Amino acid sequence: MSLPDGEGAFGPFDGRIWLNTAHQGPLPRVAVAALERCVREKQSPQRLVDERFLELPRRLRSRLARLVGGQPDEVVLGNSASWGLQAIANAFPWRAGDEIALLASDYPATQFPWLLLERRGVQIRWLEFPDATPDPVGLVSGLGPRTRIVCLTWVDSYTGRRLDIASLGAACRGRGVHVVVNATQAVGAIPVDVKALDVDALSASGFKWLCGPYATGFAWISPRLLEVLQPIQSYWLAQQDDAVIDLSSRVEARLRDDLGARGLDVFGTANFFNFDPWLASLDMLLQMGPVAVAEHDSNLVSRLLQGLRRLGAIVVTPVDPDVRAGIVAFDVPGIAAEDVVRNLADAGIDVCVRLGHVRVSPHVHNTLGDIDTLVSALGRRWS
Ligand SMILES: Cc1ncc(COP(=O)(O)O)c(C=O)c1O
Repeated sequence: MSLPDGEGAFGPFDGRIWLNTAHQGPLPRVAVAALERCVREKQSPQRLVDERFLELPRRLRSRLARLVGGQPDEVVLGNSASWGLQAIANAFPWRAGDEIALLASDYPATQFPWLLLERRGVQIRWLEFPDATPDPVGLVSGLGPRTRIVCLTWVDSYTGRRLDIASLGAACRGRGVHVVVNATQAVGAIPVDVKALDVDALSASGFKWLCGPYATGFAWISPRLLEVLQPIQSYWLAQQDDAVIDLSSRVEARLRDDLGARGLDVFGTANFFNFDPWLASLDMLLQMGPVAVAEHDSNLVSRLLQGLRRLGAIVVTPVDPDVRAGIVAFDVPGIAAEDVVRNLADAGIDVCVRLGHVRVSPHVHNTLGDIDTLVSALGRRWS
């Protein structure tokens, strides 16, 4: 499948241009069709066969594993980026006095899952770096002898800055510290191969660059981290996931300890209305090819950066393609970001304000024409 152009695989957008994927990715038409099938199944429940309860999580797990280059039994199915981070925070074998290191200026979804640990005697080590951008040497020198995990956001939601996660991961691993990454603004916008990253876990929302419904998410956890985690939850359908479902017999209440990452799944993994459409979105993205999608997104971002340079905007996002992904943040001299966004909305273009900057995040549903329309609209309002 080639990349869709605008209204082909997505939409309708009611004649508007959606450039805010970092907030919500649009649901493609194939996912809408899947949702409609699921609604019909629930309307007429005789259509909903028992096998679907195990088949759906199994298929979703396999697609997510393929997307990040991992194995299905390393994938946690969740409802958010927070879910995977929280599952790791809960299951890690902390001892009193251990530390979790976090960036003081990081996104709240990266910080909150760890905060309750303080009540269990775990210390939070808050790290600060210029531009919230740690380098490997600086990061390692900020860790203490009791730091067990460092958790970072790969691509910053506010500025679009992308961290060199592979180098940061390698540096921390040399110190025996686990690296856990919030990859929400990365997976789907840039190609991700966990085998090339020296990290222990990634967690991401599914409703942005992965074009799933809201309240979807997943985590990938490395075998070396999985080995030490001790789940504090137990879900009857996760226990059966690799068997043939049999709802007609009593299931023995015996815990298994060979569940892999699915022992950390959100409950209700046959969440048909959310997970079935998400599966359709993922199949579409995988068919297009994550590398092709990333190239498409990068071309859109480059075109936007060229336009902004011509207009004299102050670009906050790093221009180096290795240090950015799909998000561009900028300021228009002399005009408040809120006014810029309002003017663009009046022109039928939807972007947003984040931390006082205009934030634009185009994705696979957008075209170079959309970017040119945005730049022209900015130029008109400017002069
Ligand atoms: C970096 C980042 N992490 C996480 C989220 C969302 O978190 P969750 O999926 O846990 O709601 C967002 C956006 O809202 C984000 O930008």
